[in-house]
Amino acid sequence: MARFTLPRDLYHGKGSLEALKSFKGKKAMICVGGGSMKRFGFLDRAEAYLKEAGMEVKIFDGIEPDPSVETVMRGADAMLEFRPDWIVAIGGGSPIDAAKAMWIKYEYPDCTFEDMCKVFGIPELRKKAHFCAVSSTSGTATEVTAFSIITDYSKGIKYPIADFEITPDVAIVDPELAETMPQKLVAHTGMDAITHAVEAYVSTANCDYTDPLAIHAIEMIRDDLVKSYNGDMAARDRMHNAQCLAGMAFSNALLGIVHSMAHKTGAAFADYGAHIIHGAANAMYLPKVIAFNAKDATAKKRYGVIVDYMGIADKNASDDDKVKALIAYLRKMNDDLKIPHCIKNYGADSYPCENGFVPEEVFLQRLPEIAKNAIGDACTGSNPRQPSQEEMEKLLKCCYYDTEVDF
Ligand SMILES: NC(=O)c1ccc[n+]([C@@H]2O[C@H](COP(=O)([O-])OP(=O)(O)OC[C@H]3O[C@@H](n4cnc5c(N)ncnc54)[C@H](O)[C@@H]3O)[C@@H](O)[C@H]2O)c1
Ligand SMILES: [Zn+2]
Repeated sequence: MARFTLPRDLYHGKGSLEALKSFKGKKAMICVGGGSMKRFGFLDRAEAYLKEAGMEVKIFDGIEPDPSVETVMRGADAMLEFRPDWIVAIGGGSPIDAAKAMWIKYEYPDCTFEDMCKVFGIPELRKKAHFCAVSSTSGTATEVTAFSIITDYSKGIKYPIADFEITPDVAIVDPELAETMPQKLVAHTGMDAITHAVEAYVSTANCDYTDPLAIHAIEMIRDDLVKSYNGDMAARDRMHNAQCLAGMAFSNALLGIVHSMAHKTGAAFADYGAHIIHGAANAMYLPKVIAFNAKDATAKKRYGVIVDYMGIADKNASDDDKVKALIAYLRKMNDDLKIPHCIKNYGADSYPCENGFVPEEVFLQRLPEIAKNAIGDACTGSNPRQPSQEEMEKLLKCCYYDTEVDF
């Protein structure tokens, strides 16, 4: 038996933030990040709408990018004190993911972070509060997914929490919030979104319900991501929907090892002064993983179907040639979006450069551990090809040096 779960309600289109006015409840806690939502007036609007709905409102702010276990615990304490019956998370993937984990701890104060990380092991929520997510970036689609990514900085590892229990009750996909994104955020989150759709389409858990969502998202992102990056606001608005469709697909079809590798490299070199930003990591690794997965006959065929829908190769071309066309297309997107092709050329500011922030000897020294962690990531199980330790190390090396994957 398979399960397909989405939020009960999804409000979309410009001005849909106003849906908050119709919420029924007594107390709402708004969870938000460092300041962009306040700066652009969305936080004040959300607060006013909830008050108009007759609710007492409290704000938990300052949730950092790539949120930590400590922030989750602090937020849960604030919830236990305020006792909201609505949790409204506004912002990018970081504040929404943190709020999802806080929600678990609020409902089950004895639940530890380790308990939360047991895949599909979350107890029944909604005994204390319902959850609404309002996304301000066009990538993670966490407003519709069963996932939350929390970083354990003591280990330098990102852990996915995965359970349909944390799929929000309500998603608000208002493109006005995405219009204020700076260019770099558009690039990174957009490549995150296409990675979600491609990984979901070739995942071993794909199905008739997820395929059309993944394919349509890919077609939309092909049309709109670079335009959105270059300031076309109509394209920006459509990207907000496209990333959400990709999220609906991957929340139910799961992901693959691009995400396993991104999760396990993201914070692995934080002691060298930067993170490999999630979307940029995906953008660099996706072409390599496609070459690796294409050794699996079913995956190769499915990449061929993606290419047919994208219209980027002759329909009569061989699947091998279609895979090459897909890889070339994605690499061109990275160039258009100023994302490097490999870790070696990934600067601390995320732009391509000669000598990136991850020194070669440090990468090689940490490689066995990172590869082991990536294999153990929750996203590996649904990848079409299961890598051995040796293969994962080779794959990560290709992602470091931008060398061809021929194994
Ligand atoms: N839950 C999931 O299913 C899922 C999927 C993919 C990634 N993730 C996780 O999500 C996190 C990344 O989220 P993200 O890429 O959305 O970025 P983010 O939430 O980390 O935000 C990045 C920065 O952009 C700013 N920002 C956000 N929206 C803005 C806007 N509209 N205008 C101006 N500035 C804005 C924020 O203040 C922040 O400084 C990572 O931790 C990643 O691992 C989760
Ligand atoms: Zn992602």
